Amino acid sequence: MTSLVRIERHGDIALIEIDRPPVNALSAALRRELLAALRETNAAADVRAVVLACAGRTFIAGADITEFDAPAADVRTADLCDALDAFQKPVVAALHGTALGGGFEVAMACHARVIAPEGRVGLPESRIGLIPGAGGTQRAPRLAGALAALDMVATGRHIAAAEATSLGLVDEVATDLRAAAIGRARAMADSGQFARARDRTVPAIDLAQAMAGVAKRARGARAPIAAAEAVGWSMTLPFDEACARERATFAELVGGAQSRALRHMFHAERVAARLAPVDGHVPNPWPVRHVGVVGGGTMGAGIAVTLADAGLDVVLMEVSAAAIQAAEGRVRAVYDRHVASGRMSEATRGERLARIRFVTDLATLADSDLVIEAVIEELAVKQALFAQLSGLVRRDCVLASNTSRLDVNLLADQVDAPERVLGLHFFSPAHVMRLLEIVRADRTLPEVLATGLALAKRIGKQPVVAGVCNGFIGNRILAMWRRQCDFALEDGALPQEVDAAIEAYGFAMGPYAVADLAGLDLGLATRRAAAGSRDPRIRHVPIVDWICDLGRYGQKTKAGWYRHEGGQRLVDPVVTALVERASAERGITRRPVAAAEIQARVHAAMVNEGAKILAEGIAHRPSDIDVVLVHGYGYPAWRGGPMHEADELGLDVVLATVERMHAADGLGWEPAPLLREMVAAGRTFADLNRAGG
Ligand code: COA
Repeated sequence: MTSLVRIERHGDIALIEIDRPPVNALSAALRRELLAALRETNAAADVRAVVLACAGRTFIAGADITEFDAPAADVRTADLCDALDAFQKPVVAALHGTALGGGFEVAMACHARVIAPEGRVGLPESRIGLIPGAGGTQRAPRLAGALAALDMVATGRHIAAAEATSLGLVDEVATDLRAAAIGRARAMADSGQFARARDRTVPAIDLAQAMAGVAKRARGARAPIAAAEAVGWSMTLPFDEACARERATFAELVGGAQSRALRHMFHAERVAARLAPVDGHVPNPWPVRHVGVVGGGTMGAGIAVTLADAGLDVVLMEVSAAAIQAAEGRVRAVYDRHVASGRMSEATRGERLARIRFVTDLATLADSDLVIEAVIEELAVKQALFAQLSGLVRRDCVLASNTSRLDVNLLADQVDAPERVLGLHFFSPAHVMRLLEIVRADRTLPEVLATGLALAKRIGKQPVVAGVCNGFIGNRILAMWRRQCDFALEDGALPQEVDAAIEAYGFAMGPYAVADLAGLDLGLATRRAAAGSRDPRIRHVPIVDWICDLGRYGQKTKAGWYRHEGGQRLVDPVVTALVERASAERGITRRPVAAAEIQARVHAAMVNEGAKILAEGIAHRPSDIDVVLVHGYGYPAWRGGPMHEADELGLDVVLATVERMHAADGLGWEPAPLLREMVAAGRTFADLNRAGG
């Protein structure tokens, strides 16, 4: 008996059970013990077949990510697979929870796989900048064909039991998992018929088209392409040679900057979702079952869909019959698209819709455990609503605002028990975007924050706690880097050049393409209102307002920063002329602005504002800022977010860029004192992450 692996006998079948909470990650110690158990059961004369299973919530969820920086271990996952290949008797893997990465590689080296109905399998290594390193890229195509394997390794997606079975990755779905696995193992021993995945051949197919798709979607990430290429070798190289190449690629990637960045993200996402203990106790969330959503516009409807998808009862409220009808239309449109694309059955659509009640009477929300307001972004309107809600709902009903920039404290002021008020800032479209900024107001109780975090987990969002300020973490940083883009225009760049520079950096779309999509009239009223009170010393670029003056609001008017024709974005001489006029009015002689300069300025703007946000306590730790930018704003995950990347670049390099921007752009571009202090002390954001817990 060992501590992580035990062998249980079921007559002539040995069941090897792994028990390493929380997710049975394959650590060096576990690999050692598992190898010993495999050898023991293979050698035991009275064992006719073996079942490999896991205790707890899941089958092996992959290699232990915390050990990737450690020196090479004595037993590798590939050694386990080799041991399984050498087995003289059948081995059946019993999969439940998530059999991922190295866990699924081990399972594929077994002679058969049985899976629980809710089980999922996957090779998600590319999501942490790696490829499978124990033959996964060779066994998966042997089981499922090259095309399916390529999709699996390039996307890293989790594949549900039914699909995994139809692809041939697993052999059987069974409710009574262990009994089924034992039965199958015994039958295989009786018949003497069991085969190894490695001995199969992979039917040749033309991968070129799939590879082109992978390269396009990768947007600068190396691992998906490397993983897909490795799958390609399964058709051309002998198994052992392909495995050796796979291992060499893994070794190269694991020491690289991209994998380091993605592993940073893995930890950052989980740390952001946890609440620090208060007085030694982790605060308990309040129970949430019934949720009221006030406002059925794009945001409110998207939020209602997200909640209903997670099994919550939703009451969506609008002020008039016409408005609620429109809201219902928006909700239905989302589900109709899902059904039309084949991603959802009609029955499921019916179930989801049945969870949402569409009402026009606020009193219907009286019984809610949580109310999320998503009405127009005007303080007075939101304050009046909070005051009304205060008189209506129970005192333990959490009251949340979906504001993207207003002071949540001013909403809490309207309410009895203001300690139950917080911000839940969803991103548009709310049912798609993963980020949820949870805004902690001055009086928000830890339990109420915990309720927000628990809700995020339940509805599949990535939470980050932010303090109150204009724009919270994300929009405040966005405003700064967008301004640097506008400055680059005045200095000599054109919108399409800035967009190309940002896309080359790894964002899906450049800022001007995004602006045209979102609508340039968004925030126009605010911009016009602010125009009179703007400090003339602040560098302000008027181009977007001039574009709006021409009635060009982006894609919806077929013209904005670009002309839009037949789904194409076309450079428009009208805009070029406006950009040149802006330079002339500021007395700037236009010069070529290289993509690298635009990228460096945008990055430095994010880091400088990020450092200010940290110093003000708006973000707990630098890695929270990384999570916000990656999950809410399209910052490439393989760069690890702006703060991680600043560490990689050297904070002195970033500071030098900020100082140049300050010299050129003046007020508002002062280097963050924290950044200066850190450079002087030779500290990194990673140091602050460690200190922040
Ligand atoms: N190595 C080390 N620790 C791991 C791990 C791994 N491969 N996978 C998960 N964990 C840890 C998490 O850090 C977390 O620890 P914490 O509670 O201290 O924060 C804990 O296990 C639970 O993980 P979490 O992600 O919070 O739970 P979940 O139920 O939402 O998701 C998984 C579970 C397994 C689906 C998810 O953790 C996952 O995708 N893990 C990575 C799998 C992977 O990439 N494997 C291939 C590695 S090569």
